[in-house]
Amino acid sequence: MMYSRVIGTGSYLPEKILTNLDLEQMVDTSDEWIRSRTGIAQRHIATDSQMASDLALNASREAMKAAKIDAGEIDLIIVATTTPDVIFPSTACILQDKLGVKDCAAFDVQAVCSGFIYALATADMFIRAGKYRTALVVGAEVYSRILDWSDRSTCVLFGDGAGAVVLTRSDRPGIISSHLHADGSYKGILTAPGSFSHGKIQGNPFVMMEGNTVFKFAIKVLEDVVREALAENNLEVSDIDWLIPHQANIRIIISTAKKLGIPMEKVVATLDKHGNTSAASIPLALDVAVRDGRIQSGQHVLLEGVGGGFTWGAVLISW
Ligand code: UT7
Repeated sequence: MMYSRVIGTGSYLPEKILTNLDLEQMVDTSDEWIRSRTGIAQRHIATDSQMASDLALNASREAMKAAKIDAGEIDLIIVATTTPDVIFPSTACILQDKLGVKDCAAFDVQAVCSGFIYALATADMFIRAGKYRTALVVGAEVYSRILDWSDRSTCVLFGDGAGAVVLTRSDRPGIISSHLHADGSYKGILTAPGSFSHGKIQGNPFVMMEGNTVFKFAIKVLEDVVREALAENNLEVSDIDWLIPHQANIRIIISTAKKLGIPMEKVVATLDKHGNTSAASIPLALDVAVRDGRIQSGQHVLLEGVGGGFTWGAVLISW
């Protein structure tokens, strides 16, 4: 049996930090409101010249260093992003060029905050099928570019960043299973609905969200997809060593863990430091927990995410 295994992780956050106190100067909000409603204390913001591919490049280099591989060994690059550098080519192709990787498959995945889960599941399938040996899977976002900085209901929530993993073929698991879902009938509750046509932006290009609806939806589907992953593998909740959730709101993370009966000591939460970085949030949290030694070989790690589309999913890994 062929599997894919994560052999290196990396992440990158832009230097500039925007605190809740900074936001108090920009919109009618307070540090107290943001912390108590979301758990976020600060977020990182890319410079005007930094694109998603630049953030992805830094995270990828870290992941490749940890995996001890060089550019020549990568035969698949998938970038999950909602904020690509340009309309085309894909951010994955731009990243490929920046990394100096020659002749490999490279493409983007667009599943908003579930993007990294979709990208990881896709790379796993290519490796399991024997098509590719080593894949670089990245979540990279510059959400600061698609926020309306006068809308307090959205601008306090998001930040910029990137996370990456290197996956390679192995005869022992690895990724045990992946579980992807979407329901486009909920497309309107979290959206940046503008489009680009005849050289002009048509409609509103900024993030709009029905916060309460998204909140309730997220808690329901995240619980469901974790239970689905466990049932498919005949595992109990107690078999999960680490839950790495999408980092959107600490109240969603706590509620999901509580409903599942997973103690918060087994849940990795990093959103206080970087806010919601959409497709980057799961690999960012994963990298933190790998580097600080929490995640150890042989443990069960469950990644789960939810986002616009609506999309949601989980990936179960034997580390
Ligand atoms: O990444 C994809 C998934 N995204 C998510 O999972 C986000 C899900 N949603 C949420 O995290 C929460 O719904 C929010 C954090 C967005 C909002 O929290 P909430 O507890 O649902 O607040 P609310 O929208 O019900 O608003 C409560 C009050 C309102 O005022 P009134 O009507 O009670 O007078 C808002 O106008 O808070 C007000 N408000 C704010 N006040 C200060 C909304 N945003 C702010 C703000 N600062 N930034």
